[in-house]
Amino acid sequence: MKDVHVGVVGLGNVGSGTLAILHKNCEQIGQKLGFQLRVTAVCSRSVHGLSLPDVPADALRTTDWRELVAHPRVDVVAELVGGTGVARELIESAIGHGKSIVTANKELMALEGADIWDRAIKAGINLAMEASVAGGIPIHAVLREGISGDRIVALAGILNGTSNYILTEMESRGDSFDAVLAEAQALGYAEADPSADVDGFDARSKLAILSALAFGERITPSDIFVEGIRRITAQDFDYAHQLGHTIRLVCSARQTEQGLILSVRPALIPQSTILAGVKGAYNAVWVKGQFGADTFYYGRGAGPNPTGVAVVSDLMRVAREIRCGSPERVSPFAHERLGEYRPVSVTLQHRPYYLRFRVDDRPGIIAELAGILASRHIGLEAVLQLPCDTKHDLPFVITVESTTEQAIREATAEMSQLSFLREPPLALPMEPPL
Ligand code: HSE
Repeated sequence: MKDVHVGVVGLGNVGSGTLAILHKNCEQIGQKLGFQLRVTAVCSRSVHGLSLPDVPADALRTTDWRELVAHPRVDVVAELVGGTGVARELIESAIGHGKSIVTANKELMALEGADIWDRAIKAGINLAMEASVAGGIPIHAVLREGISGDRIVALAGILNGTSNYILTEMESRGDSFDAVLAEAQALGYAEADPSADVDGFDARSKLAILSALAFGERITPSDIFVEGIRRITAQDFDYAHQLGHTIRLVCSARQTEQGLILSVRPALIPQSTILAGVKGAYNAVWVKGQFGADTFYYGRGAGPNPTGVAVVSDLMRVAREIRCGSPERVSPFAHERLGEYRPVSVTLQHRPYYLRFRVDDRPGIIAELAGILASRHIGLEAVLQLPCDTKHDLPFVITVESTTEQAIREATAEMSQLSFLREPPLALPMEPPL
């Protein structure tokens, strides 16, 4: 069978991992496909200054992605640029040229993936995006095909390796958020501007994509409640442990009586749950189906090789289709058509909560806080105070029985006015098992 020719745009981490795997694993890839995947063109702004040992000598090297997309031998374009500017133009151009696309772009797929797919299907080409979420975990393949016969009722994930690394280092070493972040930045694990990772936006794009596949709705990332991890302290882990819990940035999607509720936020999870064992830069996705019950997927969320495997596997799938034909194509969103998501506010969600206070100590504090909770019919569960000699900045915790997020928001807003509080209370939901 004739070889399939690939053009790779973007030669950063993911691009270099993709090229290395295509080169070093070409024999096995050829055996699996029955033909070869050939890199015919590569593009990056700095392509002429790179040595590119994994790129065939006769491949086109260009700084102009238009030249690569228009190259007559390129059958599939790998968009590994990221962002929503050039990447969008490039994908549109590839569709215009009738060339299939493999992308690792979570931001663009979360915002416009469903529309891009509509145009791709009309143009008779394919769009594959496994690498856009949790790089090394083939979670798209699972939701699109592996468990597509099930009806998904809930999904919980750890989808940002940087924030998971920071949280689990804080947990094991007792260091502050700022200290661990600074160290991660110095080691190159965290970006100089860490906002996308530590404020939850990267995870939110990933949850929007996974939820579209799982629930068949077109989800705008800004419709998902998001809260980052900057307020978590090492002491929160001490208190969480006392309660038999730990803290993770949890991406959650659940079908409820009110509809699908989505959130990305730090939450207490029981130490006994499988998600609590996800440490360092690893990612995980836990899916509950109505029929097949629980399945769990774990692996590296990023990195040249794990993400490169996802890109190469997508290239193989698309190449097989080009060579062998596959008229009944499975949508990358796992549904022939996505419905319109009607956002359901997280304020409707019922949970027990962990409330952590920092106070300038004086008599009567618990009584005042308890009064505010009682006035909203929120029942106290436990009051915890670990030994501390800074009475002017004393942390302690109250846990409360299951109540609505709305009631907790109102109570903590009223508490924030109290003069003895050094900062607004930190309220974290205590997530039940899926
Ligand atoms: N910055 C992401 C993370 C990896 O820390 O998981 C790319 O999506």
